[in-house]
Amino acid sequence: MAYSGGLDTSVLIKYVQEKYDAQVITITIDVGQGEDLKGAEEKAKKLGALKHYNIDAKEEFAKEYIFPAIKANALYEGKYPLSTSLSRPLIAKKMVEVAEKEGATGLVHGCTGRGNDQVRFDITLSALAPEKKVLAPVREWGLTREEEITYAKNNGIPVSENAKKYSIDASIWGRAIECGLLEDANNEPPEDVYEWTTSAENAPNTPEIITIRFEQGVPVSVNGKVMAPLELIGAVNEIAGKHGVGRIDHIEDRIIGLKSREIYECPAVLVILEAHKDLEKLVMTRHQVLFKQQIDSQWVYLAYSGLWVDPLKDDLDAYINRSQENVTGEVKLKLYKGSIQVIGRNSPNSLYDKNLANYNIKTSFDQSYSKGFIELWGLQTRMYNSLKACKTSQKP
Ligand code: ARG
Repeated sequence: MAYSGGLDTSVLIKYVQEKYDAQVITITIDVGQGEDLKGAEEKAKKLGALKHYNIDAKEEFAKEYIFPAIKANALYEGKYPLSTSLSRPLIAKKMVEVAEKEGATGLVHGCTGRGNDQVRFDITLSALAPEKKVLAPVREWGLTREEEITYAKNNGIPVSENAKKYSIDASIWGRAIECGLLEDANNEPPEDVYEWTTSAENAPNTPEIITIRFEQGVPVSVNGKVMAPLELIGAVNEIAGKHGVGRIDHIEDRIIGLKSREIYECPAVLVILEAHKDLEKLVMTRHQVLFKQQIDSQWVYLAYSGLWVDPLKDDLDAYINRSQENVTGEVKLKLYKGSIQVIGRNSPNSLYDKNLANYNIKTSFDQSYSKGFIELWGLQTRMYNSLKACKTSQKP
């Protein structure tokens, strides 16, 4: 059973033991959610778990899930950085590894029937372990939040104050906050939903410049200091959050068709993606830039929609990885009161040539070629329009 230590999955431990007369092995995966893993272990055991696994998967998460998302400029519907979505197939993979080692017959997750995570878990788990039964009891039990809290109290399961206010999911790639006051899509989110970012109003009055260096599409240093993936993401989160960068208020289309209002806090993502997209434009040809936008949006769609293990995603990864071979260089950004502005970039693979692009008449760019080019480029467009003009004038 995937166990987060939160209300749903705590109730779930008891419920599965009672309802299925089963022995439960719990597993908590650290993807940087900042929860106390030792605490989760103690709690799980107290609730009757036979055995508990704490697995630190942060490094793997950064390298195998976040880095591909950076290469794909991953923002679902242009806004959501997949901070929750990306962790699900990794958690599922770890569950299957433990289940195989322990000889478990079932795989249990605590998702409700309303969200995206049930889709991601069900598909990934059943694709990786087709012989095991995938169970989602929360989807079936039909308990309201209140009934759950009562069940918890009656069974000695502690309920935190926070659990009553918002539903929060976090990873090193960002925080997602739902429920409570946020359900009114017209309400400005109260300040207390945010933990990683200062409000723009309270951010420093002087901007800060940050330089990120990429090698083959992935970030490797910040302000000249080479960093390991986790350290780098943490450092950018820190700097950007201080300047009020990273707050996202999104009307999102869930896989199952519901529209939902989601608040995210993803400072590092927004800065890193802004820099990465800019660098791609510096080193890629126009054809590559425009084609990759389509590949990226398909990649994001699969990653969001629970199809991480679909072979199409592997196919797209192959394309995207190849496309990143030249994405090496540095991007300079200015952070100021919630805004991010790219203010400079350079690369040994740059296709930008100052000598070609300038307005000086004596460059090697021969302007006389443009006239003939435009003639051919617009040929069909002109033909269509003259035909249309002809038809209109013939109308009685
Ligand atoms: N809508 C996002 C997703 O499907 C985030 C869900 C986060 N869950 C939460 N309990 N706040 O990936």
